[in-house]
Amino acid sequence: MEMIISPSILAADFNILGEQIQEVKRSGAKYLHIDVMDGMFVPSISFGMPVISSIRKQSDLFFDVHLMIVEPLRYVEEFARIGADLITFHLEAAEGQVEETINRIHQAGCKAGISIKPATPVEALLPWLGKVDLILIMTVEPGFGGQKYIPASTEKIRETRRLLTERGLSTDIEVDGGITADHISLVTEAGANVIVAGSAVFRGSITENVHRLLGQRQ
Ligand code: DX5
Ligand code: ZN
Repeated sequence: MEMIISPSILAADFNILGEQIQEVKRSGAKYLHIDVMDGMFVPSISFGMPVISSIRKQSDLFFDVHLMIVEPLRYVEEFARIGADLITFHLEAAEGQVEETINRIHQAGCKAGISIKPATPVEALLPWLGKVDLILIMTVEPGFGGQKYIPASTEKIRETRRLLTERGLSTDIEVDGGITADHISLVTEAGANVIVAGSAVFRGSITENVHRLLGQRQ
C-alpha cells in the first residue's frame, strides 16, 4: 500500500498557516490532518469551521478531518459542506450512533473514518470493519500534540491489519500521535499506511521533514 503522510496543522504556526499549508503541498504530502477538539471529548479546544472553510479556499490537499468531539453526528453535514474529504470520528464519542454517523458521512459525499483511543481494544471495531474507509488508531492519548508514541499501539495496528486482511479488506489504517522519522517504519511494517505527523513536520523545515518521513533524500 502506498504510504501517505498527513501533516497535522495543530503543530503549525497559525500566524502563517496559509504559507505553511502551501509548503506542505510542495513537499509531497498528500493529506492535511485537521484536528477539531471541543474541550469535552478531550480537554483542549483547537479550531473549527471558520478555519477549515478559509484554508479550503487556498488548498486542494485532501482534507483529513479528525473530530475529537462528543456526538459527532451533529456536525457531519457542516464539515462536509466546508470541504472535508475524510471525516473521522471517535467510536467512544458516538455511542449508539456509530452506524448512523458512518451513513451520514457517506451520504454527505465524504470518506468515513472511525478512531479508537489507546485504552479502547481493537475488538470494539469489529462491527464496523467493512463499513468504514479508514481506521485511525490513536498512538497517544488524544488532546495534545507533541506527546510520546505509546509502544503498545504497535500491536493494535498489527491486530487491526490482521482482522482486515482475514476479511479480505484493504481499508486504510491511520496512526496519529508521536510519530517521528526514527520509528515510522515500525508503524508501517505493522500495517499502517496513513501517517499523521504534527511536530515531526512543523518543527524545523517542513519540506525536509516530509521528505525524511517519506524516506527520501533531501
Ligand atoms: C492529538 C492529535 C494529533 C496531533 C499529533 O490529539 O490528534 O493529530 O496533532 O501531533 P504529534 O505528531 O506532534 O504527536
Ligand atoms: Zn489527529
